[in-house]
Amino acid sequence: MSNPSPDRPTRTRHGLIACARLVLCFAPALLPGAVIAAAPDGAALFAERCAACHDHASDRIPSTVYLATTRSPEDVIDALTRGAMQAQGTGLTAEERVALATHLTGRPPSAGGRADPMANRCSQPLEPTHVQSGDSNGWGMDRQNTRFQSQPGLTAADLPRLKLKWVFAFPGAVVYGQPALVGKQILTSGSGGYLFSLDPNSGCTHWVYNAGATLRTPSLVGSVKLPHAKHHTTQPTTRQLVWIGDDKGTLHAVDTQTGTLVWKRRLDEHLAARLLGAPTLYHGVLYQPVSSLEEVYAANPQYPCCSFRGSIVALDPATGRVLWKKTTIQEPWSDLPKNESGKVIRGPAGGSVFSSPTVDPERNLLYVGSGDSYTNVKTASTDAIIAMNATTGARVWTHQVDPNDAWIMLCNGRSVDNCPSELGPDFDFSASPILVKPTHGPQMLIAASKSGAVYGLDPAHGGKALWMRSIVKGSSNGGILWGGAVDGTTAYIGTSEYDLASGTGGGALVALDLVTGAIRWQTPTPASPCGWGPARCGHSVLAAVTATADIIFAGAMDGHIRAYAPTDGHILWEFDVSQRFDAVNGVTATGGGIDYGGQVLVQGLLLVQSGSPRQRGNALLAFSVDGQ
Ligand code: HEC
Repeated sequence: MSNPSPDRPTRTRHGLIACARLVLCFAPALLPGAVIAAAPDGAALFAERCAACHDHASDRIPSTVYLATTRSPEDVIDALTRGAMQAQGTGLTAEERVALATHLTGRPPSAGGRADPMANRCSQPLEPTHVQSGDSNGWGMDRQNTRFQSQPGLTAADLPRLKLKWVFAFPGAVVYGQPALVGKQILTSGSGGYLFSLDPNSGCTHWVYNAGATLRTPSLVGSVKLPHAKHHTTQPTTRQLVWIGDDKGTLHAVDTQTGTLVWKRRLDEHLAARLLGAPTLYHGVLYQPVSSLEEVYAANPQYPCCSFRGSIVALDPATGRVLWKKTTIQEPWSDLPKNESGKVIRGPAGGSVFSSPTVDPERNLLYVGSGDSYTNVKTASTDAIIAMNATTGARVWTHQVDPNDAWIMLCNGRSVDNCPSELGPDFDFSASPILVKPTHGPQMLIAASKSGAVYGLDPAHGGKALWMRSIVKGSSNGGILWGGAVDGTTAYIGTSEYDLASGTGGGALVALDLVTGAIRWQTPTPASPCGWGPARCGHSVLAAVTATADIIFAGAMDGHIRAYAPTDGHILWEFDVSQRFDAVNGVTATGGGIDYGGQVLVQGLLLVQSGSPRQRGNALLAFSVDGQ
């Protein structure tokens, strides 16, 4: 070990792997043949590889105490091997991961591992199902992402009789994605990398597909023509596939009848690429947005910043063949002058796409919301709503709301290492834009930003802003995160004053006039108690909202799902999911914060996913009238 380079990982005398300048180690198999000490020291490993972030919780970094109280040792291992901390886990041995998980949570992982994902196999075979109108499929109920359910099979008059029908427990501690209910099948992922096909009536399991990586996007189902697998005939057969994306940037296409993989494709070779927004299917083309965690990677001073650009990838849904890929950022790469750390920063980078694209069939356009920039190299396409031709991907217009939002984790205003000299606020468009034709007025594109501002854009005039309304203070965690729903007159949007460090903060459901942006009403989330106790009991509405003609559903970080009256916002019904439930698959389901896609309503069944990276939980709850 003579002459260790300051840029290369070095070995400590404990036989552990360290980085000369701490934060992250990247290279896999850093030391081939390294002799690992018999029992790795979890505390030392944590100090070397994790503490730089987790001992200084800020922005989106959860604190050590938070991780210790909200995560199980199995969750920590999942995070390091297939979840958000894969990069930080690179090069660790299985023993080192166990040592870290034990150190962080105070107990060793159970030897038996996770519960059997097929524990509650259905006794009846799965009937072939087909996509029909009124299904909940993909992100937004329709391709315009209105999140308006016109055939919910439930009205406000039924709410007093809405009862819990069954609860399913996901393996893992966090629930991502959004269930699709198509025909007689629920397709949902939860965490832990499994895609489940469940029966809507009983919650029993038809099949499980193991993706080998954390699945993040909502599920989308559609039909394709494929060569007949068994008989090798040239006659194609129609098969129904479910598409779902993972944390490693791979899109999976799985047969809905059998649960077998039909194809999978990595859509971006970048180390930090991941898929979070739902795919959408339009005119036989599948569109998948791509985002990244490079903001987190670049907190490591050794990391060469930056090289990722968010994109939309258009694919053949039957084969996964890439038709085109268009990045949000279009400017050529260039270098900034050396900064005070002697680093040369490349850009522009960033412009992640976290949300499902919105289809405008009349103009043959896709509308895409982009995230912030990672460097101070100028670009016109970050924090923007972008219109692209759905056939070719060609740019039609770009409406940028903040040209100066360059953000890297852990920078806190310092302009050293990879940090932007002017640090931006980390305001992304993380919610899908919504295309809507109000009953009285021209078509509108409603776009909500983490800044807390909602924009009414004019799709007929290049996305010109017709109005802008700031409805909550913005933050890195999102003043508005996963977005709202609309009906013919009003946009219903959840707001958040969530503070990650304390896990507290209020929120509201806000109703805005579609034509003018005027606030019609706002209902602060009541301070209901959380089943997990007063600590980390926040009332923010981060999850997306779902609307019907006479009910607006919104879930909050306090683990309550609430139904609001669209007329004046009074609460019609609520249910506390922040409890423990005996799940149909034989284990205990724990309700946590309601985040992300949250709830869908279809065929008289309200499906609520509970469990957030911010407040863990692993429950899928199904409600129906009288629990029938
Ligand atoms: C560069 C900063 C950084 C470093 C270093 C880092 N983390 Fe993290 N960690 C984060 C961020 C940011 C998140 C939240 C990720 C998200 O929201 O997707 C996170 C989340 C987690 C989570 C929760 C994942 C989940 O289930 O939601 C665990 C567990 C975790 N880290 C463990 C570790 C361990 C163990 C190490 C060291 C091997 C480590 N982290 C190193 C920044 C870091």
